[in-house]
This record gives sequence, structure tokens and C-alpha cells, in this order.
Amino acid sequence: MKEFKRTLVTAALPYANGPVHIGHLAGVYVPADIYVRYLRLRGQDVLFVCGSDEHGVPITIKARQQGCTPQDIVDRYHNIIDGSFKALGINFDIYGRTSSKVHEKNASDFFKKLYDEGKFVTKESEQYYDPEAKTFLADRYIVGTCPKCGAEGAYGDQCEKCGCTLSPEELINPKSKLSGAEPIKKKTTHWYLPLQDYEQWLREWILEGHKEWRPNVYGQVKSWLDGGLQPRAVTRDLDWGVPVPVEGADGKVLYVWFDAPIGYISNTIELLPDSWEQWWKSQDTKLVHFIGKDNIVFHCIVFPAMLKAYGDGFVLPENVPSNEFLNLEGDKISTSRNWAVWAHEYVQDFPGEEDALRYVLTANAPETKDNDFSWKDFQARNNSELVAIFGNFVNRAFVLTHKYFGGQVPAAGELTDADREALAEIPALRASLEKNIEGYHFREALKDAMSIARVGNKYISDAEPWKVAKTDMERTATILNVCLQICADLAIAFEPFTPFACGRLKEMLGLSLVWDDLGRCDLVPAGHQLGAAQLLFAKIEDEAIQKQLDRLDAIRAEREAAAKAEAAKQVAPQKEEITFDDFQKMDIRTATVLAAERVPKTDKLLKLSIDTGIDKRTIVSGIAEYYAPEDMVGKQICILANLAPRVIRGIESKGMILMARQGDGKMRFITPQEALSNGAEIG
Ligand code: 2FM
Ligand code: ZN
Repeated sequence: MKEFKRTLVTAALPYANGPVHIGHLAGVYVPADIYVRYLRLRGQDVLFVCGSDEHGVPITIKARQQGCTPQDIVDRYHNIIDGSFKALGINFDIYGRTSSKVHEKNASDFFKKLYDEGKFVTKESEQYYDPEAKTFLADRYIVGTCPKCGAEGAYGDQCEKCGCTLSPEELINPKSKLSGAEPIKKKTTHWYLPLQDYEQWLREWILEGHKEWRPNVYGQVKSWLDGGLQPRAVTRDLDWGVPVPVEGADGKVLYVWFDAPIGYISNTIELLPDSWEQWWKSQDTKLVHFIGKDNIVFHCIVFPAMLKAYGDGFVLPENVPSNEFLNLEGDKISTSRNWAVWAHEYVQDFPGEEDALRYVLTANAPETKDNDFSWKDFQARNNSELVAIFGNFVNRAFVLTHKYFGGQVPAAGELTDADREALAEIPALRASLEKNIEGYHFREALKDAMSIARVGNKYISDAEPWKVAKTDMERTATILNVCLQICADLAIAFEPFTPFACGRLKEMLGLSLVWDDLGRCDLVPAGHQLGAAQLLFAKIEDEAIQKQLDRLDAIRAEREAAAKAEAAKQVAPQKEEITFDDFQKMDIRTATVLAAERVPKTDKLLKLSIDTGIDKRTIVSGIAEYYAPEDMVGKQICILANLAPRVIRGIESKGMILMARQGDGKMRFITPQEALSNGAEIG
């Protein structure tokens, strides 16, 4: 295996058009932070780069909707996102922005070099144009029916329902998102990166050289390559983005997916203007991109092809760990439907519980398949794992050491088999933990860390120092010494996952620890004075969980009401044509309801006694869902009088009450605009 001198870790630049949610955290930022913290604990040279992705059509659409500028939008969300990352302990070395001057220059220079060296091809093509808004409709400015799954509202670049990648031309019934107008085709010229020229090289580099990449990443790359690569446009007709730095390109900007990955480099330049090249252009650098699965093609095919085209010794990623998606309470997380747990809201609602979220998102990380986050599971994992195992063990060890030894680490006497066996488990768990983190298996790595806590918890429960203390203080000292060694191991092993609690634990231990200390058994010297016991994890109460569930229920109810209102607007298509004679056959009359009662053992049926003006008769009608019997009595209605009688539930029904039914099924009876005599003919 190749030895590297330093590791450059990037985490996908989140779009600054909304806050980040637990799906982003679980998919990208928490695993990236775990990896970086681990490498740092090992004393490795690491740089962790991220920042806001501040270009692209969704940002301009949001600005239009809110009547502000795109800059206002990105300023707002950049700050919110940056704040949530900091609060959750996701410690980038730099969290930059692609609207920065440094980035504009860097991305612009990058394009210009490729342009000057003839690495692009230009193509004139007909693209959709909004004749009302007088603008070309790039990507998300155009919506229509998905050709793959039939969903409405698919975008010009992707269908969010089935996840397929689209081009605007593929949409059925395309409409401008700006004006709703039907777009027309208009000629425009763009620059394209001929990806097909890099196909063979990509095959060798990834399909031959990186068989160890996660199957979802490798599989997606393979299927793109097997499908044959096409030239990819790297410019757009838009007024928000990095202007295309060549003559004759007025009104054109770099495509967001061209400039965003360059943002990783720009942000490094911003942080280290004099030494950034050491990170990006030295073959001793191990580059790792943490991304979500919808970013795979850009990080494994497009960006590497851009770097290859650029030359100049840019490093390529050694790995691109990409997660699947996280769902919330069984439903796909959706920013537009507000179906998410927002990071900035979480840190407000659960102050001091940042580790709990990091822990649960790792324990449930969608590493190999989509996974679900539920609030009940969150509470259970916090209360029965973090609190009951890790927290409980540390608390017992500290409280008892303070109680029996005034907080001074007691010296261990001769170790028993049980002592030795407990301590012997730790090096093996450490080895597994290392293998898992280095192989990007963070769920498994977390299990290893929790296994160390389980070892400690079981050891102290079996050894029962609180009982032994009644008769044998020397043995009590040994037990507590062993426990404190395990506490120190936990402070190291959990640091990548729950850094806040580990910070407190190290403070309690009064030690600064590094990865290589893990499993040494002599970390906490006898006679060392411990700090006061602090709470590592707090129990999460039912009320806090209920509040979150209520919020989601309210969103669900709102969504269902909106869907119903939408359905109510649906109009059934007109029926087959009939003749006047057909209509004339129907004898429609006014009538008054004399009495009404429910038909026993049915939910839907009312038995109505009707004065039709012709006679008094009974009609059974399926309107009980909409009217109680007392609502009907005395009402003038319209009936179809000459419908052949039918026996319904043993009652002869003569005629039919005329009802209007709207798209969502809701029904109302028809009544004359003013009272008429019964039996008046309608027609
Ligand atoms: O999917 C996203 O949220 C993109 N903004 C990720 C960009 S990653 C990188 F290329 F900058
Ligand atoms: Zn679709």
C-alpha cells in the first residue's frame, strides 16, 4: 500500500440555498469529521476543507421567490450552515464560499487555461428559452413530466422522484419555472468538456486501479463508463455565477458543477495562499472526497477529467466514500416539503446533546443502503447505549474513586484473570476500530468503540467494587484502577464520534491522550488526582421526543391537507356525448326531505322519506359520510324521479338524490337557488 505524507479531506460543498439537515450530516459531514479526527489523533498531517456552494439555479429561483438577490440568499444560508457545523463539532480547517473573490479568480483562471489549451469544444445548440421572461432556461428553471417515472415537476437536470439524471429536452410538457410559459427553442453556444476523451483513462484509473472503492461508487462509475461518456457543457446562460472569462461570452457563467469542485482548491488557497500546492499537487497527498450518492459522477468522472485536462500534477482522489440516503420517519427527506430535521434547529432544541446526534447518525449511517432516522430510535440509542453503557460505566468508576479514594487513582494490586481478560479485549477492539475507520466503515468502527464501553460496564458490574469495598479495600483499588484505564481508552476511542463528551472525560481524567495510548493499560498513573465527575450524556425525555413528533405530524397534516385541496381541484373528464332525447328521458324534480335516518349497520347510507310533489317515497342514498340525518330534514333537494327502483339493504329505494362530487370525493346535494314547490321539473 502506498505511503502518504498528508491527507486532504474534502466534504461536499453544501448548496447555500437552505440549511443542512440530518441527511447531509449522516451522508457526508459526520463521517468526514470522524475520519479527520481519527487521523489527527494519530498525529497525521490532515487538512479538512469545505465551504458553501453558492452558485446554481436553485439559489436564483429562491431569490426570485423571496424578492431578494441571490447574494442575500447565500449570505443568509452560509452563516446558518457554518454555525450548525461549528455547533456539531464538525471542525473544518476552512469553511469557504464559492462567491468569494479568491474562488472567482481561481475558477476563472482554471477555465481560461483549459480554454487556451483547446481542451474544450464549442457547440451551438437549440436550448429552451422563456419568451416571456426573455431568458434561457438552464437546469432547474425548467420543469415537466419525468420521461422515466411519469412524475410531475421533474427538473431539467434531474427527477427528484426517481433520481434519474435528465436533460431539458427529455422532459414531457416542459414549462418555464419562471413564468409558467411554454418554452421555445433558441440557438446558443456553449463550451463542452469532451469527457469521452478521458474514458479510457478513467477506466484504467478507477475500474482497474480502485476496485476497493465502495460498491455503490464503483458500480455507478462503471455504469456511466459502460454507457459511454458524452461531451458535457461547462457553461450556462445565466446571470449568477462565475462569468465565462472569454470574449463573446456575455450573459454566460460557468456551470455550477464546473466551479463547485474547483471550490475545494479555492478554499485551500484562501487558507494557505503560500502552501496550498503542497496539498493539491504533491503525489504524497492522499485526497479523500466525502460526498452523497447524487454527487458520485461529478467527483469520480467530471472533476477528475477536469484535473487531468488541466495537468500540472493535481492529485486525484484516493477514495470517494459516498453514502446512500437517510430517510426520516419512513419518508424521504425533502427540503421543499420541509420533511427534515434541520441541523440548526436540532442544536437549539437539544443544547448539549450534539454528541447524541453524531452518535445516532453514525450508528444508523446509510453506508450501504438507504436508512431511516426515527426520533424513538434516537431516544433509545441515546438512553440505552450512550447513557446506560458508556456514561454509566464512566460515572460509576469516577464516583466510586472519589468516594473511596478521594479522587486519587488507587494503585492496582495483583491482577486477577477477570482483570486481565477485560484489559486484553481492548487491543483487539482497537485493531478492528482502526481497520474499520481506515476502510471508511464508520458504523462498524462505532460498534468497536461501544464494545470497549460494554467491556468496562460488564467488568464493573461483575466485579461489584461497591460490595467489595465493604471487606477488601486493596481489591477495590485494583478494580477501580482497571476501570479508570478503560475510561481513558474510551476517551480516545470515542473522540472521533462523540468529541464533546470525550473532551469532558479527558478533563475529568486530567490527561491529554493520543491514539497510540489506546489499550496501553497504564494510561492513568496511580496517585494521579482526578477531576470532579461530570455528566457525559443526559437522558432524553419523552416530552422532548414528543415535541419533535408533533412537529412532524403537523407538517404531515399540512401536506395531506394541501394534497386534498389539490385533489379537490381535479375535474373529471367530460362523459361521452348524449342526445337531447337521452336527456329528456330523465325526470328530474325538486323534492323535500321529510325524515331521515341511518340505515343500521352501514356507515354510508341514509334512508330518506321524500315529498316529490308526485308522491311520498323512500330513497336510500350514500351520503351519510357527508350529512347527518338531522342535516337533511326539511331540505329541498333535486332527485332523479324515474330511476328504476332498487332494493338496498332490504329497503326499496325509488329514485336518486342528485349530488355534486368534487375531485377529492366530497359531495354536496343540489338545492334550487330559492324554494320552489315540490315536483317542479328540472331541465
Ligand atoms: O449536492 C450538493 O449539495 C452540491 N452542492 C455539492 C457540491 S460538491 C463540490 F463539488 F463542490
Ligand atoms: Zn422520475
